[in-house]
Formats: sequence, C-alpha cells, structure tokens
Amino acid sequence: MRDPKRVAILISGRGSNMRALVEHAKIYEVALVASNKPSAAGLEWARAQGLPTWSLDSKAEGKEAFDRKMSQALDDHQVGTVALAGFMRILSPWFVDEWRGRILNIHPSLLPLYRGLDTHARALEAGDSISGCSVHIVTEELDAGEVLGRAEVPIEAGDTPASLEQRVLAAEHALYPQVLSEFVQR
Ligand code: GRF
Repeated sequence: MRDPKRVAILISGRGSNMRALVEHAKIYEVALVASNKPSAAGLEWARAQGLPTWSLDSKAEGKEAFDRKMSQALDDHQVGTVALAGFMRILSPWFVDEWRGRILNIHPSLLPLYRGLDTHARALEAGDSISGCSVHIVTEELDAGEVLGRAEVPIEAGDTPASLEQRVLAAEHALYPQVLSEFVQR
C-alpha cells in the first residue's frame, strides 16, 4: 500500500537536501533513500543514520528498465511520496505516469525562471536582484510542474555562481522540509 507519509528521497550526489529532509522528518517518514549512483556520498550518510537505501548504476540499465526496478523498490518500502533531491537523471514517462502527482523536486531558481541547469550563472548574467528556489511537482516537462512553494534570497554585489549557490542552498534546506510536510497532509 502506498502511504503518502512514507517518503523516498532520490539522490545522485552529496545529498545536502536529503539531509535537511531527514533532519526535519516529523510529519513524514523517510522510508527509503535511493540513488542511480551507488557511489553517491549522500548514500553513505543515509546508511550511517540507519536509513534503508537502494541503489543501482543507471548507466548499466535502459532508462525505463531502471525506473521499473526503482519503482519496485519504492513499493517494497510502502512509499507514497517521492522527493527528488539532486537526482541528476530525467525520469521516464512511464515512471512519471506511475507516480503521477506524487513526485516533488527542488530546483535552484524562482520557477518559472531558469528551468534546467546553470541557474545561478543565468540569474547573475541577467542582472537579477533576487534569486531563490522552488519546490514543484514533477511532470514529463522538465521543471515545469505545479509550483508548491518558493523562497527568495537576495543577490548581492560581487556574487559569483558559487556564492549565490550557497545562499540559495541554505534557503532550499528550510523550504523543502516545510513544503513536503504540507504536501503529505493534503
Ligand atoms: C540543489 O541545488 C538542488 O536544488 C538541485 O540539485 C542540488 C542538489 O544538491 N536540484 P544536494 O545534493 O541536495 O546538496
């Protein structure tokens, strides 16, 4: 049975958002941390917390074959909500349909601005005075699903993509657990 309050967090890298989600898990429970990169640093941290983990090298699998195996792992853990947190892989239409309306992502821009990669460089390039992050529902179109919450941060004189990334990341860590907690109750 899929229980909305049982959350799987999907990561590909360091997993700082995963960590924030785990540390603020009160309304929801982190039922699984899954990755398409068995060497992802965040997996080690999750294991050290005693959290269940699952990983499979997506390079060795066809896109949909990987997604079907991951979906089975989510069901094995009675997951009902999927939180992408730096999951650097585009999900197959099959997976998006199978979990429709139940997949969230955090994106480092004020959507609908700057979908895709290099958001901080693009915000600086445009001369914006505000940036931020957004949590949205995942659909087949990249970074285009319903926005559930946003947090703004100022862009300061002398900011580089790296300094802006750090400021936005701190906002991500506060926003994502809050939006996820609200989402699993709706
Ligand atoms: C974050 O910037 C997030 O917005 C984006 O990928 C990055 C993941 O970082 N989707 P982390 O692995 O959570 O530290």
